[in-house]
Formats: sequence, C-alpha cells, structure tokens
Amino acid sequence: MEPAIFVTGGAGFIGSNFIQTWLEESQVPVITVDKGTYAAGSNNLAGLAAAGRLRFVAGDIADRGLMRELLGEHRPAAVINFAAETHVDRSILFPEEFVQANVMGTFNLLDEVRQYWKGLPSADKDGFRFLQVSTDEVYGSLPLDEPPCGESKVPAPNSPYAASKAAADQFVRAFNQTYGLPTQIARCCNNYGPYQHPEKLIPLMIHKALREEPLPIYGDGKQIRDWLYVSDHCAALRSVIEWGRAGELYNISARAERTNMEVVSAICALLDEMYPRKSGSYRELIAHVADRPGHDRRYALDSSKLEGELGWRAEESFESGLEKTVRWYLTNIEWVAAVADGGAYRDWMAVNYERRSR
Ligand code: DAU
Repeated sequence: MEPAIFVTGGAGFIGSNFIQTWLEESQVPVITVDKGTYAAGSNNLAGLAAAGRLRFVAGDIADRGLMRELLGEHRPAAVINFAAETHVDRSILFPEEFVQANVMGTFNLLDEVRQYWKGLPSADKDGFRFLQVSTDEVYGSLPLDEPPCGESKVPAPNSPYAASKAAADQFVRAFNQTYGLPTQIARCCNNYGPYQHPEKLIPLMIHKALREEPLPIYGDGKQIRDWLYVSDHCAALRSVIEWGRAGELYNISARAERTNMEVVSAICALLDEMYPRKSGSYRELIAHVADRPGHDRRYALDSSKLEGELGWRAEESFESGLEKTVRWYLTNIEWVAAVADGGAYRDWMAVNYERRSR
C-alpha cells in the first residue's frame, strides 16, 4: 500500500469534505486526527472509516507525544493541517483559545513533523509536503477600488482569528526557510457547502429561515466576501500537494465577490422556490443587527498563480454551488438539528446575538 497522508482536523467542515473527495479520487489511505471541538461533526466521516482506507484518531495537534506516535507508525508522505478554531466572532470573545489552538497547535505539530521528516530516507525527503490550510483573512480588508490581492500582499490581520492564522503561517514559512522542511501554505476565500457548522453565514441563514427566525445581518450588510464551493477548495488543495512547489504560497479563489445582502437574498430566493413559506418571502425575515467589531469590509483573492502553475479551475459557479448547498441543508435537516439543538449552540446564539439586538 502507498504511504498514507496525515490530515488534521478531519471531522470539521473543510477537513471532512477534503477526506471524502480524497478517498473518492485516490487509493492513498488517510490518517486523521481531530480534537472533537464543538465544530467537529461526529458523523461527518460516517461510513468512510468502514471502507478501510481511513483511520480516525481522537486527539489534539498540540499533543506532541500523540503526533510523534502517529507519524512514526504511519510514515505519511504529506501532512495537511486543517485543525483550527475558525469563527471570527468567537475569536473576538475568546481570543486566547485561538492562540492556543491555531498558533501553539500549529507550532507543536510543525516541530514534530520536522523531527519525523529529518529521519526520512533522503529519497523521500524532497517529495514530502506539509500543507498549511490558511485563509484570505490574514491579508486584512481590501479597499473597494483595489484589484483582488495576490500572494505578495503583506499580511495585515484585523481579528484575533486572522492574527492567529497569520502567526501560524509565519511559523510554517520559517520552518521552510530555517530547516528546509518542504512546507506550503494555501490561503482560500470563504467556503460554503455541505457540513458547514450553522454558526457561519450561509448555513446560519438557511437554518434560521427554516425556523422562521430573524436573519441577522451585521451592520449594513454591504461587506464583501469572495465565495468558493468547498469541493473546489478541496480540489485546489489536492493539486497543491501533488504538483505544487515546496516553500510556496498559493491563493485560492474563483472570483465570486458578493455582498452579504446579495448572499442572503440569494438564499431567500432559493428557499422561496424550493421550500415556500405559507405566505410571503423569506426576505421578510431579514433583520439588521449591531456590526462585528473591526469588521473587514472586503476580501478578494487573485488565484492566477494557482491557475497558471497547476491548471486548477473551479467547477461550481456561486449560483450552482449555492443551489447545491441549500438543497443539501434541506435534505439533511437532522444533521443541522443535531448541532443546533445542543446546549453549546444555544449558548453561542445567546452570547453572540443577544448583545447585538438593536
Ligand atoms: O475568508 C475566509 C474565512 O471565511 C475563513 O477563514 C473563516 O474561518 C470563515 O469563518 C469565514 O470568515 P467570515 O467572518 O467571513 O465568515 P462568517 O460566515 O462568520 O461571516 C461572513 C460574513 O457575514 C461576514 O461579513 C460577517 C457576516 N455575518 C455573519 C454572521 C455569522 C452576518 O452578517 N451575520 C451573521 O450572523
């Protein structure tokens, strides 16, 4: 059997989608480790482990002993680090958790991977990859009149979440420069699709609309995000690991900039068609609430480096991806209910939204 890949944070939204598509496209087995925070879906990987090419281990990337043991036992050809705290609003309230998980977690993992990599036979060293899954948020807010930003833009993170991811990226880069570890960084724009936790904009709005609850738009709703369907992100990451150069940074985007109001209106229009209310449109539920502190006005990435070097192209348009997503949430109401009916979710809704009511 070919050497496995080692995926951290495999029970989360992007990690679980990545594993699923990896196992569909490749014979290479996957070892995944996940801490099982509130954001991990216990059944996101259901069925996959049974197929025999996935091993799931409950654990934290900051647990160096566990990382050493798993790396030594499975001798992976690549490590892909998805494990992270990812919600900006939580980072505003609980910043230290983001330093621990994203900065210290990544550092501990990197340092164990370095030791493991040093001991590989020289024939395997060059082909090894450590891929850090990062975010466009590290670049900070982009003025409306500037073109989408390329890899050379200097990071200027504005939220504790973005700062923690930028710090982790700097360690990944430093381990390449100092020790020669073949690292890569991929910075992607906003993702959406199946298994996204309903604390994030798109699934939150679908969930609230279906419960006939107000749809909370922060501030004026004119903030712009650049949206990518999750399977297109996963395909981009596969090409980076397989064909991308070591020591490089790749931006990932399909140039789908939309204001939050446009996104929420599009969700309402799809729901009006697929699951009509007794009367009226879901748009009537839209409610403006107090803004996010330090709210970045615009993100937009230029991914021509990835497209030119590796030939990656997104398959989904924003419209086709959003339709698939709304359909997935309509047919997986139990998955959402399992998350949303839990005490942790209700507590979060109270902490984040009660203070915003105007
Ligand atoms: O850009 C990539 C990033 O996208 C990822 O690195 C983050 O992990 C991911 O959470 C996401 O960050 P955002 O802050 O852009 O995502 P979020 O879904 O929280 O919010 C999207 C936009 O919608 C943002 O402008 C805030 C706004 N929003 C969000 C929520 C949850 C609302 O207006 N109302 C809401 O209730």
